[in-house]
Amino acid sequence: MKHKALYGTHDILPDESFKWQSFEDKLKSIFVLYNYKEIRTPIFEETELFTRSIGQETDIVQKEMYTFFDQGKRSITLRPEGTAGVVRAYLEHNLGEKSPLVKLFYFGSMFRQERPQKGRLRQFNQFGIEAIGSADPSLDAEIIGMAARICQEVGITEFKLHLNSIGCPVCRPVHRDKLLEFMRGKVGDVCDDCKTRFMRNPLRMFDCKKKECADLLKDAPVMIDFLCEECRTHYRQVKNYLSGLEVNYFEDPRLVRGLDYYTRTAFEIKSSLLGSQDTLCGGGRYDLLVEELGGTPTPAIGFAAGMERFILVLQMQKDLMIEEKKIKLFIATLGDEAKVFASKLCKDLRQKNIACDTDYLQRSLKAQMKEANRQNAEKVLIIGEEEMKKGKAVLRDMQTGEQKEIGLGEVEQILD
Ligand code: HAM
Repeated sequence: MKHKALYGTHDILPDESFKWQSFEDKLKSIFVLYNYKEIRTPIFEETELFTRSIGQETDIVQKEMYTFFDQGKRSITLRPEGTAGVVRAYLEHNLGEKSPLVKLFYFGSMFRQERPQKGRLRQFNQFGIEAIGSADPSLDAEIIGMAARICQEVGITEFKLHLNSIGCPVCRPVHRDKLLEFMRGKVGDVCDDCKTRFMRNPLRMFDCKKKECADLLKDAPVMIDFLCEECRTHYRQVKNYLSGLEVNYFEDPRLVRGLDYYTRTAFEIKSSLLGSQDTLCGGGRYDLLVEELGGTPTPAIGFAAGMERFILVLQMQKDLMIEEKKIKLFIATLGDEAKVFASKLCKDLRQKNIACDTDYLQRSLKAQMKEANRQNAEKVLIIGEEEMKKGKAVLRDMQTGEQKEIGLGEVEQILD
């Protein structure tokens, strides 16, 4: 074959896409309950938007972005995540002037040039939410609770919510110094990536999956022990609200995020079914990002989740929650007259919002019945040449196997 989908990209084929549709419908209904409205931003933006928000020293900016120069010699990047574009749109359209708290959700493809593996792609799909305009810890809890509820409602049976606070520019430098001091004698033994992290962003060493690095960091000082008074109060309040909402969480002092814009609350939901790429969704506060991108100081919080990873887990759990939508009726025909009748009947039924289909390949009755079965049709209407002459047809219930003769004029009424 001449052309193949690029490494790390994938097609969502018809026998998969219904799962995506059902998943998206469920998500949208949950977003509406929490009063979030959809935003759609472009899939490419100025490169500088991402370098400034995600952070120069992150893996994403250092080695994963799809960046190119357009005809006008501008540096453009395919979005590696959604938050930066949403904040850019929030500022560009003065959304904060219309409402002090703006609650948004989005779906979309993201692009990262990572080494593909199970649950890790180069073009992947996220859903995410961003709430811009409040520093209130009750909002953190509502959003974390929503992420957990999504997992439950779509049918993820096993997941764990990890929670941490990664402080603010007041308390972080104190921890950073302590961490550097702790690691100084050990840095020769960490992996090459961690050597770079040690120089540029030591907190990120906690995110290393390599055992030798994790072992060396076992007793390292953690951010949570160095929080300033305000961050500590905020963290305590978030936990209180979470308990009030009966959301189970696991305090994980080693949880750090791969993007630099976070302050205070950081959280992730993980599933052990996923293997090494075990994070279903991640997010947290980014109280300084709006200002960093040119706005007035505006606190914000959000999260995003990998759709492919959700689908993967649901598949491993045998997809209990996702059922393919069936067509109500398949019309099997024999002879030209029956075919003409079927064509008009399909039109009338569809006008009444009844999903149906018929044969376009002039197949035998047996082959048409097989097709109806493959299509998962609820019922089959069989119109043979003889029946057509008598104005009759046979209606078969595909689940029970029951058959009855009905008048051709009765079909719409019976199915309605
Ligand atoms: P992130 O942790 O980089 O955060 O990504 C969120 C989720 O996207 C991950 O937990 C994972 O499920 C999925 N994901 C990330 N990379 C890949 C990949 N290469 N292949 C498949 N799935 C992937 C963000 O993107 C932040 N913008 C989240 C956020 C929103 N924080 C505040 N608001």
